[in-house]
Amino acid sequence: MPDDIRHLPYDLEAGDEIPSNTSPNPTFAEIAETRLGRRGMLMGGLATAITGFIGTTGARPAAAARGPMIGFRSVPISPNDTVVVPEGYSVQVLIPHGTPLDGRPAARNLPEMTAAEQEQAIGAHHDGMHFFPIEGREPDQGSSTDGLLVVNHEYIEPRFLHARAAGQSIGNGRMPVVDNARDPDEVRKEIFAHGVSVVRIARQANGQWTVVADPRNRRIHGATPMAISGPVRGHALVRTKYSPDGTRVRGTLNNCAHGVTPWNTYLTAEENWAGYFRNLDRAEGQPRLPREHARYGVPNAQARYNWDQAAGGADEFARFNVSSTGPDATQDYRNEVNAFGWIVEIDPFDANAVPVKRTALGRFAHEGVVFGPAREGRPVVAYSGDDSVFEYIYKFVSARPFNRATASGALLDEGTLYVAKFNADGTGEWLPLVHGQGPLTAANGFADQGEVLVNTRLAADAVGATKMDRPEWGAVDPRDGQVYFTLTNNSRRTEAQVDPANPRARNQFGQIIRWREAGDDHAATRFTWDLFLIAGPEGDSRIAGNAPVNADNMLACPDGLWFDADGRMWIQTDIGESEQLRGALAPFGNNAMLVANPATGEMRRFLTGPIGQEVTGVITTPDRRTMFVNLQHPGATTPAAEWAAGRPNSRFPNGDGVPLSATLVITKNDGGIIGT
Ligand code: FEO
Ligand code: CA
Ligand code: CA
Repeated sequence: MPDDIRHLPYDLEAGDEIPSNTSPNPTFAEIAETRLGRRGMLMGGLATAITGFIGTTGARPAAAARGPMIGFRSVPISPNDTVVVPEGYSVQVLIPHGTPLDGRPAARNLPEMTAAEQEQAIGAHHDGMHFFPIEGREPDQGSSTDGLLVVNHEYIEPRFLHARAAGQSIGNGRMPVVDNARDPDEVRKEIFAHGVSVVRIARQANGQWTVVADPRNRRIHGATPMAISGPVRGHALVRTKYSPDGTRVRGTLNNCAHGVTPWNTYLTAEENWAGYFRNLDRAEGQPRLPREHARYGVPNAQARYNWDQAAGGADEFARFNVSSTGPDATQDYRNEVNAFGWIVEIDPFDANAVPVKRTALGRFAHEGVVFGPAREGRPVVAYSGDDSVFEYIYKFVSARPFNRATASGALLDEGTLYVAKFNADGTGEWLPLVHGQGPLTAANGFADQGEVLVNTRLAADAVGATKMDRPEWGAVDPRDGQVYFTLTNNSRRTEAQVDPANPRARNQFGQIIRWREAGDDHAATRFTWDLFLIAGPEGDSRIAGNAPVNADNMLACPDGLWFDADGRMWIQTDIGESEQLRGALAPFGNNAMLVANPATGEMRRFLTGPIGQEVTGVITTPDRRTMFVNLQHPGATTPAAEWAAGRPNSRFPNGDGVPLSATLVITKNDGGIIGT
């Protein structure tokens, strides 16, 4: 997601999630001031602030991997329009935006493609993904040469999508509206470019990977029918003209990162969905939005892409206007946006399976979702961050135990959603968001669990959760079970709000927090935490257990995060478009991917990407000898005037035409494990 921190208060067109946490919950600084005293915390700047909060939970020694954990030479920081990987590695570009799912060459270039063609082709803005071995039994075991790649498509850059945009002065946001209306076919193409792709890919005899025609290849997008499951199913707050009984909705939007269930299905996370809608309701001359819209930043003027303004006003578009226009909720779309903000389950091995919105996991700007290790007879545990400034980190613990023989998505329909409170002394608590417990009562405006979940952010405000610096991806170390989360940046945190876990005001560089659950039980309600990484330039950054960062491993704005089976932690960066190659972020070059060994703090830069993109999404085949990495929004930093002049600043991947998001296939030339 673009992280535009120069445009204040926010830039909806560039995709910013609207800052909307107005709760009085204490920040860490207030907690820390109480416990440590302000001088003790802040004196001496960063070094003092992090002493005692970095490395305190202690990493266990690395299990011996085959070969060195990290055996390559760091690649340098790059401002160039190329992909660079270490010496001894090779890169192939696979499934760029617009690649047909049937394995045949595209009939035409992306801007000339019709909406119907886009609906049967790879979508835009690749993000989280997983490689499911073709046997379809275990998410990380089976074939390393043949499988279903499932890829999220987070959002779009309309000027790259439509032939009409050529030569026009258009930035990286919406298309201009002509005569108060949008072309319905353009809008459909934009809706179909969102969502998820399921596509079979296989390695050929020459070592190259290709798309393989398969009946399971399919697109799930912004208009695909889906079911609503869990406590919110049938709730009054999700009843609409399309689904008067509140059990169905069309589409998933802004699919950022993902999750993989222990029962071999894919989860896609709905992140910055609020801006796709608008609510024009007013009272006494002022916008009047219900709390389930307002707390999430649903716009009260213009929507992100103006889909509700498609000419003809067909129902498929009118639903993006969530104003109260009818006599009741079943005769308009006031509740349509309440069916967004969820984790959505997709079975990649059954093309007929209807995607399911699993509401027990809460409604917020879900970056992604990551599971603790599944243990027979124990609850299933999943973590998810809410990526907006001053929002929270959550975890779901299933009510019923995991049983490998019978496990299914139903496990995600009953359980307890918790939100994290990080104490200044390095301990933490998981606070339950359960109707009837604590402040979550009818008297306080939460009539039932459905209201708690539709208003997850408000419930978390009420119980006193800790406001964080934009939680992005999470990952669990396979060796010791510690949970890591990236906190990408927060330019709005003031000096008075800094604290041990979010130790910088106007935080431009981000950090990585980690915790160990009490008793190493992921279902525990207490934990201890520390900071693994304070990102930033040399001299203003730290890695737990190692020396300060240097030119070989400095990074800013950590976002994507994933552990391979050996315990290598892959870190992907997302410096926002308006910051890339500018000001304090200029020394970091283009967005990149690094690898760290948390047991030692060793970290090296593995990949640098082309101009304007972010690196997001990483997975290997089970043998760890083929890695897939997504590059999202190359060329997004092209100024409108340069676009009008026919000069996008990236030509990735084709060297001509519009820049395209794509998946990279990375192999080691000696056939070895990636990273060694
Ligand atoms: Fe979609 Fe927070 O990145
Ligand atoms: Ca980001
Ligand atoms: Ca992200």
